[in-house]
Amino acid sequence: MTNTTGKIFSITSFGSSHGKAIGAVIDGCPANLEISEKDIQKELNRRKPGTSEITTSRKESDEIEIISGIFNGKTDGTPITGIVFNKDQKSKDYESLKNTPRPGHGDYTWKKKYGNYDYHGGGRGSGRVTIAHVIGGAIAKKLLNSYNIKIVSHVTQIGKIKANTVNMNFIEEFASKNPVRCADPTAAKAMEELILEYKEKGDSIGGIVETIALNVPAGLGDPVFGKLDGDLAKALMEIGSVKGVEIGFGFEVANSTASQINDEFYIKNIDTKNNIDNKNNSNSNNNYNIDYEDKNNKNYKNNNKQYDKNNDLNKYDIGTATNTSGGILGGISNGMPIVTRIAVKPTPSISTIQNTVDLEKGEETKIEIKGRHDPCICPRITAVSESSVAIVLADHMLRSGFIHPSNIAKNNHLRD
Ligand SMILES: Cc1cc2nc3c(=O)[nH]c(=O)nc-3n(C[C@H](O)[C@H](O)[C@H](O)COP(=O)(O)O)c2cc1C
Repeated sequence: MTNTTGKIFSITSFGSSHGKAIGAVIDGCPANLEISEKDIQKELNRRKPGTSEITTSRKESDEIEIISGIFNGKTDGTPITGIVFNKDQKSKDYESLKNTPRPGHGDYTWKKKYGNYDYHGGGRGSGRVTIAHVIGGAIAKKLLNSYNIKIVSHVTQIGKIKANTVNMNFIEEFASKNPVRCADPTAAKAMEELILEYKEKGDSIGGIVETIALNVPAGLGDPVFGKLDGDLAKALMEIGSVKGVEIGFGFEVANSTASQINDEFYIKNIDTKNNIDNKNNSNSNNNYNIDYEDKNNKNYKNNNKQYDKNNDLNKYDIGTATNTSGGILGGISNGMPIVTRIAVKPTPSISTIQNTVDLEKGEETKIEIKGRHDPCICPRITAVSESSVAIVLADHMLRSGFIHPSNIAKNNHLRD
C-alpha cells in the first residue's frame, strides 16, 4: 500500500473507519508556522458527519489531538502528528457483509488483493480516512495563507441541478450559508430538496465540486513528471468516490476551437486596450473571465515580484484576459486562479436491495445495506478537496523555492 504523498511537504495517513483512530503524520512543514488544534478542528468540523439532514447520522465529534511537532504554539520543523479517535462505530451493522462485497465499494478488490481485509465500515477504504487529508490540508492551508494563498470550494452541481456562477470573492461566504455548500442560494435549496428526495427513496445522488486556489504565484510545477496539473489531478482522484477531474475548461475543450479558448495575455499594470477589455470581462461573473482581487489584501498583485526581483519578467504584472487553462500552462502555474472540478459519484451504500455474490459459498445473492450513510457525498467532500489541493500546492511552494524549507521566518531568502 502507498500511504504517503508529497516530496517535501509530505503526509502519511493511517487508521480505519472502525479501528481505534484515524490520523496523519505531516513531515516537511517548516518551523515557525503558528498552528493550534483549533485551526485543524475548524477544518475537520466542515468534513465531519451528522451536521445536517443531508449527511450521514453517524455521530462523530472528530476531535483532533496533536501529539507532536508543535512547540510554543508554532511548528518546530519536526513531524506533526494529528490523531482523531473513532467514537461512534457500530461494527455489528457490517457483520452480514463479511463475505458479500457491496456494489460500488472497494470490498471486493481489497479482499482479493490483501486477503486480510477489515470490512467494518469499509475499513481503510472508507471515506472516513479523508480525516487524514483534512488534518494535512489544514496545516497546508495555514502555511499557504501566510503567503496570501487562499483556497475555496463549493458544490456546483447535484444531479441535473446546476448552480449559477458566483463571483469568486463571494464563494466562501455564500457556500458556508447552506448545508449543501453551494454558493448559489436558489440552486442550493433545490439541491437540498433533491438530496432529501433520494434519501427518502433509499438511494443516493452524485454531483460536482469546484475548488479554486487564489493568489498562487506563477512558477509552481515540475515538468515533465511533476506537472502541477498532473499532481492536482492525482491528488483529487485519490479521494474516495471521485470519478473525474477537470482543470479549467476541462472536458469542454473538446467542443472548442483555439481561437475561442486561448487565454490571451495582457499587462495588468499598464493601461492598454486589452486591460480595459479585461476589466469589462471581469464583470461578466464568469469564473473563466474573472480577474480575482483579494479585497482583504491589496498586495496580491505584487506576489510575483516578491520572490525574485532580478527576473525581468517580474517588472510587469502579467495576466490573462480569460482563464480557460485554470491557472496552469505547460504544467506550471501562471499566476491566475487555479480552478479544479471533481465529479463525485452517488454514495455507493444505499438501502435498496442489490445483487452481489457470497464469496465463501460461491453463489449469487442479494444484499441490503444497513448502517448510516451520506445520501450525497458532495457537501462534505468540499473540505477534502480543498485539503488535497492545499497539500499539493504547499509541497510545490516548497519544491519551487517560494517557501524556505526549514524556517518560514526566512521566507525572503530568495531576495537576500
Ligand atoms: C467525505 C466522504 C464521505 C463518504 N461517505 C460515504 C458514506 O457515508 N457511505 C458510502 O457508501 N460511501 C461513502 N463515501 C465513498 C466511499 O468511500 C467510496 O465511494 C468507496 O470507498 C469506493 O471508492 P471509489 O468510489 O473511489 O471507487 C464517502 C467518501 C468521502 C470522501
